[in-house]
Amino acid sequence: MKVTKRDWLFATVVAIVLGILLLNTGKEKARRVPADDRHRPFLQRLARGADREEVERECATCHNARSIALPGNHPPKEQCLLCHVRKG
Ligand code: HEC
Ligand code: HEC
Repeated sequence: MKVTKRDWLFATVVAIVLGILLLNTGKEKARRVPADDRHRPFLQRLARGADREEVERECATCHNARSIALPGNHPPKEQCLLCHVRKG
C-alpha cells in the first residue's frame, strides 16, 4: 500500500488528538491512597473484600472540613475509593 500525503495528514491528526487526551487524563488523575500507617488498614480491608462504601465512610473521620480538608476544587466527594484506588 502506498502511503499518500493524506494518510500522513490523517496520522498526524490522530496523534495530536491522542496526545491531548493523554495530557488531560494525567492532569485529572486522583492520587492513590497512600500506603502509610493511617491508610493501610483501609486498603487491607478492601483487599480482603470488605464493602467499599462501608470502608470509605470512615475516610471522613479524618478528611473533613475541620482537619485534613480536601482541595477546594475537589470533584464530587462521595465514594472516595472509586477514584483514589484504581488498579494498575
Ligand atoms: C486516621 C486519619 C485518616 C483517615 C481515616 C484517612 N486519611 Fe487520608 N490522609 C490522612 C493524612 C494525615 C493525610 C496527609 C498526610 C499523608 O500523606 O499521610 C492523608 C492523605 C490522603 C490522600 C492524599 C495523598 C497524597 O498523595 O497527597 C488521599 C488521596 C487520602 N488521604 C485518601 C483517603 C481515603 C480514600 C481514606 C478512606 C479510605 C482516607 N484517606 C482515610 C489521614 C487519614
Ligand atoms: C470523582 C472522583 C473523586 C472522588 C469520588 C474523590 N476524589 Fe479525592 N481527588 C480527586 C482528584 C481528581 C483529586 C486531585 C484534585 C486536584 O488536585 O485538583 C483529588 C484530591 C484529593 C486529595 C488531596 C490530595 C492531592 O491530590 O493533593 C485528598 C486528601 C482526597 N482527594 C481525598 C478524598 C476523600 C477522603 C474522598 C471521599 C470523601 C475523595 N477524595 C473522593 C478525585 C476524587
